[in-house]
Amino acid sequence: TTIAFIAPDGTRYDIDAPNNSSAMENAIRHDVPGIDADCGGSCACATCHVYVDSAYVSRLAAPEAMEEDMLDFALDVRPESRLSCQIRIRPDLEGLVLRVPERQA
Ligand code: FES
Repeated sequence: TTIAFIAPDGTRYDIDAPNNSSAMENAIRHDVPGIDADCGGSCACATCHVYVDSAYVSRLAAPEAMEEDMLDFALDVRPESRLSCQIRIRPDLEGLVLRVPERQA
């Protein structure tokens, strides 16, 4: 599944992401700047915060309570904010675009 991260400086990273991996894992593997993922994907740090492209917001499963709670600690949160370690890659997310915020918590 091809997904893209857009770094704060506008650089686009197109990534062939394995299904069932998390979006965060792919960002780390491809050195996308601005995804810190301090907790390693356990939904406990909010430093993997991304903005989901509006075309894809409704195609993601709604955040679970734990993600909602942790998003309170992220900076510059918007309605389309998600924690990328909680986004599971599936074939129907082909073309998913995630923008990396200017700063992480
Ligand atoms: Fe820590 Fe996503 S990597 S919350």
